[in-house]
Amino acid sequence: MPDNAARHPNLSHTVMTELVLPQHTNAYGTCFGGTILSWVDIAAGVCAGRHAGTTAVTVAFDDVHFILPIRLGDIVNISARVCHVGRTSMEIRVDVWRERYGGPREHANTAYVVFVAVDSDGKPVAVPPLIIDNDVDRGSFAESSERRVVRMTKAQRVGKTEA
Ligand SMILES: CC(C)(COP(=O)(O)OP(=O)(O)OC[C@H]1O[C@@H](n2cnc3c(N)ncnc32)[C@H](O)[C@@H]1OP(=O)(O)O)[C@@H](O)C(=O)NCCC(=O)NCCS
Repeated sequence: MPDNAARHPNLSHTVMTELVLPQHTNAYGTCFGGTILSWVDIAAGVCAGRHAGTTAVTVAFDDVHFILPIRLGDIVNISARVCHVGRTSMEIRVDVWRERYGGPREHANTAYVVFVAVDSDGKPVAVPPLIIDNDVDRGSFAESSERRVVRMTKAQRVGKTEA
């Protein structure tokens, strides 16, 4: 059973580095968006699992905007941090930075991904509360609360359409 004592986001902060190889690129030499999303999902999943202390599954991906192209040979730095928790869900902010050897790190995109902690039967389980002790995390938490309302409205709409 996971320990449900409140946890600071620094404890689950996850950093991942990838190198863009030929198998990651399209005919134009830029990285497939789907490949970047899979890296985002992995980094966010590790972050969520670290916070929850148990398995967590992806339940929602917010809009993702690819601001800068990521090219063959680029280093991709991915940073994932918990910015909100509900009872069983966690919203993870993921920032992606591209880098060339000797060059600056440039912000390529940001994604918000929601995970739900589950037990061995796939049923949602409670996650530890989030310790928020600074203005940046406080601001993120407040913005996440607004996104959660919008997201759940959309989720209900999708559920009704597909039923
Ligand atoms: C995630 C899953 C276990 C949730 O089950 P559920 O029956 O909807 O559970 P609940 O209604 O109790 O909701 C659980 C939490 O998920 C949140 N949630 C459910 N659907 C959501 C959605 N579309 N977007 C955001 N959050 C959602 C709820 O708000 C709730 O959060 P809270 O406990 O913090 O308030 C279930 O939908 C599932 O198994 N989905 C498939 C996951 C998957 O296969 N992912 C891809 C591979 S990892």
